[in-house]
Amino acid sequence: MRTLLKNARQLRYENETEYCNILIEEGKIKEIASDIHEHADDIIDCKNQMVFPGFIDAHVHLREPGGEHKETIKTGTKAAARGGFSTVCAMPNTNPVPDHKGTLHEHLVNMDQDACIRVLPYASITKGLRGEELTNITELAQSGALAFTDDGVGVQTADVMLRAMEEAAANEKPVVAHCEDNSLVYGGVIHQGQVSERLDLPGIPSLSESVQIARDVLLAEAAGCHYHVCHVSTKESVRVIRDAKRAGIHVTAEVTPHHLLLNEQAVKVDDANFKMNPPLRSKADQKALLDGLLDGTIDFIATDHAPHTEAEKVPGFRQAPFGIVGLETAFPLLYTYLVQTEKVTLEQLIGWLTVKPANTFRLPYGVLQEGAAADLTIVNLDKTIVLDKNTFYSKGKNTPFHGWRVQGIPEATIVDGKIVYKEDSYD
Ligand code: DOR
Repeated sequence: MRTLLKNARQLRYENETEYCNILIEEGKIKEIASDIHEHADDIIDCKNQMVFPGFIDAHVHLREPGGEHKETIKTGTKAAARGGFSTVCAMPNTNPVPDHKGTLHEHLVNMDQDACIRVLPYASITKGLRGEELTNITELAQSGALAFTDDGVGVQTADVMLRAMEEAAANEKPVVAHCEDNSLVYGGVIHQGQVSERLDLPGIPSLSESVQIARDVLLAEAAGCHYHVCHVSTKESVRVIRDAKRAGIHVTAEVTPHHLLLNEQAVKVDDANFKMNPPLRSKADQKALLDGLLDGTIDFIATDHAPHTEAEKVPGFRQAPFGIVGLETAFPLLYTYLVQTEKVTLEQLIGWLTVKPANTFRLPYGVLQEGAAADLTIVNLDKTIVLDKNTFYSKGKNTPFHGWRVQGIPEATIVDGKIVYKEDSYD
């Protein structure tokens, strides 16, 4: 099977673009050239749109098994494809948790059957995400786990984390951490600051995150482990990670689109579509996150797509679960509010969504070059829409960005040479 993309524009150095044709054969990029005349079974006219390496999201909650009323592998990966993502990494806070070989195998079989894009599964660090007994990291690593995480909860004791890191290091796998010291949370549901006071809601102190990162970078140094920090949200966390990198510790980090684009001031009323963990922090934190991304302290952007039902979000901050969806809004939001506003370049944004996460997890994806997997995202950078949660393929409608005007819409996504998403108006 050969597919030819005509009239595509690819990004060259320093944000220059260049017309190209791309020939795909047997799932791989066979040739990129200004004009290709070889025979192809399928020809796609890219209509002068941009073609990028397929986006990679290293932090997604697909909810299946156990949470199918919120999302399934099918709906979550369709949402991802619509957002331009060709690879997502699935978090293990499912029921059952992939905490031994058998359940991980079942998850892999389900993903193989139902996912329309590539899904790479995390396994948990501890059994049942309870933070007590370690999983068999070696066996899980050999059974296809991408890396190890208890995302959704922090690992509370240093001893458990150290032993996990030692075993992960022996298997050359990263430990991926949701950083939250429970003894510093005090039942908080929103960032502890001006807005928690105004709305009279219990606050989550910034320290609950940064303290655990400070502990973990020292553990990672001792264990010789690659330590990756999930959804960094505070300025102190950025500083600790920056210092650790300078000290030569193997630490990497991600930030979400919502922490880059919003701060606590966005929460005007008690609306749980603004409730996530970690919470939206202060304006100074928001600035530190962008600075950290720009200076390389933070390595890439990941959505933390966390679908919940509308009914679950109704009761407001005190009772609703933490989390918002992100797969179908990430690229347009980031393009509109970071690139169009000239805070970052298009080249930087694409790097944070492709080659940077790929390199962090040593994945052979995220590049547009001959011989690479044909994972491609075709984007119409001129198209403008108003985000409408009711059009989401995701079962989750829990977004604070409903009604936002955005520009730059993914119109087709290709994985291993197969078209997995095509916008209706796109023929
Ligand atoms: O907001 C969040 N939601 N943060 C997490 O760490 C977990 C996630 C979820 O699973 O809903």
